[in-house]
Amino acid sequence: MTQGNPAARGRFITFEGIDGAGKSTHIQFVGELIRARGMELVSSREPGGTPLGEKLRELVLHEAMHLETEALLVFASRREHIAQVIEPALARGAWVISDRFTDASFAYQGGGRGLELVKLDTLANWVHPELWPDLTILFDVPLEVARARLDATRQLDRFEQEKADFFLAARNEYLRRAGQEPRRFRVIDSTQPIDAIRVQLAAIVAALE
Ligand code: TYD
Repeated sequence: MTQGNPAARGRFITFEGIDGAGKSTHIQFVGELIRARGMELVSSREPGGTPLGEKLRELVLHEAMHLETEALLVFASRREHIAQVIEPALARGAWVISDRFTDASFAYQGGGRGLELVKLDTLANWVHPELWPDLTILFDVPLEVARARLDATRQLDRFEQEKADFFLAARNEYLRRAGQEPRRFRVIDSTQPIDAIRVQLAAIVAALE
């Protein structure tokens, strides 16, 4: 029996940054760049990305809970997201972009809330021992800039209401991880004008193999 060549595996790209860093503005642009390369694009987010994951997102963003419950829920959402969306898409050759992934758990539950990083390592090794993003784009801004960008007219979620120390620790954890894995991360100075960031993003996507 002859079978066609299996599709080349797709690429997995994640976007990170503290709330107000401006990543949402740029994710769509990167999606357009990927489509322009002729690739099938799957655009998703965490927590969420599946019907069950979106229910978990509602809980995580709006219900008070123990910090370990919070960590378990974001990883439960992730498990579902990987099984239902990310792995099938990559396997058929689609490129997946996700607004946040496990680095956010290290930044928010680890840095921000102070959960021991070794527990997050355990969860990551359990939930996705083989899977890590091919590329993680970290939008980095000083805290004051991020706070000023949060839309004051909208109801802030549990994370957005946190104090400066929380975001400082989250940002530091993101930067620490980026420093540890320079091949996976690209850190973008998100205080730059949108057009300047787009030029950088275009170069990053063009360089992806
Ligand atoms: P965010 O991605 O900023 O979406 P929006 O722009 O709609 O507010 O919101 C998701 C929030 O969830 C964000 O504050 C960070 C938090 N979060 C965690 O605490 N841990 C995680 O593992 C993930 C994926 C997100």
